[in-house]
Amino acid sequence: MGATIHIVGGGAIGSLLAAGAQRHGVSHCRYPRDVNAAPVKATWIDGSEFNLSPPNKTPNILNKDDVLVLPLKVYQLHDALQAWQPFLKRRATVVLLHNGMGGYEIARNVLPEDYPLLLATTSHGAIKYYDSVGISTVRYTGRGITKVGSPTNAITNAKQLKEAVALLERVLPPVEYQQDIWQALWLKLAVNAVINPITALYDIQNKQIAQPQFDELREAICHEFTLVANVSGQNFCSAHIQQEVLKVAKATGENYSSMHQDVVHGRTTEIEAINGYIVQMAKKKGIHVPVNTLLVERIKALSS
Ligand code: PAF
Repeated sequence: MGATIHIVGGGAIGSLLAAGAQRHGVSHCRYPRDVNAAPVKATWIDGSEFNLSPPNKTPNILNKDDVLVLPLKVYQLHDALQAWQPFLKRRATVVLLHNGMGGYEIARNVLPEDYPLLLATTSHGAIKYYDSVGISTVRYTGRGITKVGSPTNAITNAKQLKEAVALLERVLPPVEYQQDIWQALWLKLAVNAVINPITALYDIQNKQIAQPQFDELREAICHEFTLVANVSGQNFCSAHIQQEVLKVAKATGENYSSMHQDVVHGRTTEIEAINGYIVQMAKKKGIHVPVNTLLVERIKALSS
């Protein structure tokens, strides 16, 4: 039997991965926190619908060629990795897939230093909703790309990691291996640092952040982001970052960002891992980032 992809959590992206695995005949297990609320049906990007295989409850020890994907929020990662550790004795590849930064540091605290680990970011769109007869459904709303890479590029686990990337590609293509995954993650951080708090604070769709009333705010967030990213080893230009942010806002225009949805539903937001990360890094480097600092405070005030 081939490798199995194990998907933790029942969020939109995790459920999309499970649906992709099923559609492409890849052996898979999914472990939503609440099995009763997990999607039971998928609507694919071409409009076709299919029922999802039932969720799994207790995992067995994963094989070395298996892949464990954690499409969770950063603040859920520590507990999830701790809980999964006993099942990782054979060193199955672990893939972190979340908005914001800080997951790598968490994984490094829980897993051994040379553990086979991949970091990933995706621009595929998916939403979870209840259909007209109340069935929990995941809908694949936008074809994107998943970028994945090794945080250290160490050659120790190179073959295993390559096979894990190939498995991810079979599940939900396209998947692009990045020599420098950090650059992709920083860029995604910029996108989230602008779109997520603005959409949440002003109760708007992603495309509306391009309105002239937000010009100054967008520019200021990107300027502070670029200062922090560049002293942290990146080489970005603030104007280019702004263009990238606007491109994503347009491509996902009709969506409400994840932070908007978290605020609306009274859930904990990812502000600490997004703008909060910029503030934290700025502090370490002695850089003044008043705009990102204020955004963190305003979102926290909204969501508490
Ligand atoms: O967090 C989100 O909602 C997404 O990462 C993004 C790119 C902002 C699109 O909605």
